[in-house]
Amino acid sequence: MTSASSPSAVQPIGWLGDRLRLLDQRLLPMQEEYLDCRSAEEVAQAIHGMAVRGAPAIGIAAAYGLVLAVRRNPASFEQAEKVLASSRPTAVNLRWALARLRGLWQNGGGADALEAEARRIHAEDLSQNLHMGELGAALLPQGARVITHCNTGALATGGHGTALGVIRTAHAQGKIEQVYNTETRPWLQGARLTAWELMREGIPSKLIADGAAAHLMRTERIDWVIVGADRIAANGDTANKIGTYMLAVAAQRHGARFMVVAPSGTFDLSCPYGEAIPIEERAAQELTEFRGQPVAPPGMQAFNPVFDVTPAELIDAIVCERGVIENPDARRIAALLR
Ligand code: MRU
Repeated sequence: MTSASSPSAVQPIGWLGDRLRLLDQRLLPMQEEYLDCRSAEEVAQAIHGMAVRGAPAIGIAAAYGLVLAVRRNPASFEQAEKVLASSRPTAVNLRWALARLRGLWQNGGGADALEAEARRIHAEDLSQNLHMGELGAALLPQGARVITHCNTGALATGGHGTALGVIRTAHAQGKIEQVYNTETRPWLQGARLTAWELMREGIPSKLIADGAAAHLMRTERIDWVIVGADRIAANGDTANKIGTYMLAVAAQRHGARFMVVAPSGTFDLSCPYGEAIPIEERAAQELTEFRGQPVAPPGMQAFNPVFDVTPAELIDAIVCERGVIENPDARRIAALLR
């Protein structure tokens, strides 16, 4: 592990040719430390262990992980692909990125071709986010007051961010009056990571407890709830961080609009609807302990799904790099992705 020298030097995913350097997101915002992964197994551990997280970022990391494996031993492609693909189940970007490399591999591409493709996936993600930022910001009114959930920023992507990218672009256009970002229990991606990104850029934001969102929508004007996605089914049902569905229900009740921002690699047309999306459940200790300290009585059982599905009917707009889908349904999604 090495320490970042200055905040401006921060680069969440760095490809160094013989290793992948990841900003360890478990330690932020208190410590800025990097983790070097030299094998696919180490990358898979970093993904499962949440050192790198966020759907597009884990897709990018997995692609580089496969390159590390093939550079070491070309015969390890299948095994490395399997280990990486099983590191987290919900974000389809991971499988999508691995499938892009598999396509090249099956057509005789070697390690150099795979590395070039991993770099392309990384670079494309940033340019897609910048474009989605413009498209999403165009939907916001002047003086927008928005809620966002989890972390969907530069840390979760190849740069700029998806939902947070829209907020960044809208802020640069002078359109944002107030952001409220949820804590996002139990990993606190909102309190630790989104707050860190928002503060570094001077975007006006207040942290709220996850349970405060409906009260906020009831007592103050909220124009949009803006979130990312881990997988979007063919009919528009969207899996995202646990608590997203609750926000969508509250938004509908209180007249706030609901925006999902995700690149085309997040769509999974093989899932016809949300029920077909696998939902990751993580260890009970993530709820019963905080940084190793018990917060529940010893032996307490827990249910810890870390994603939920928001039905398409609660979504006003899906913003993708290919365009905006208002009132998403299977027909509109198929037309956009065709
Ligand atoms: O468990 P995480 O932190 O990987 O969950 C992240 C999210 O749910 C994000 O909203 C999603 O991946 C979109 S990130 C651009």
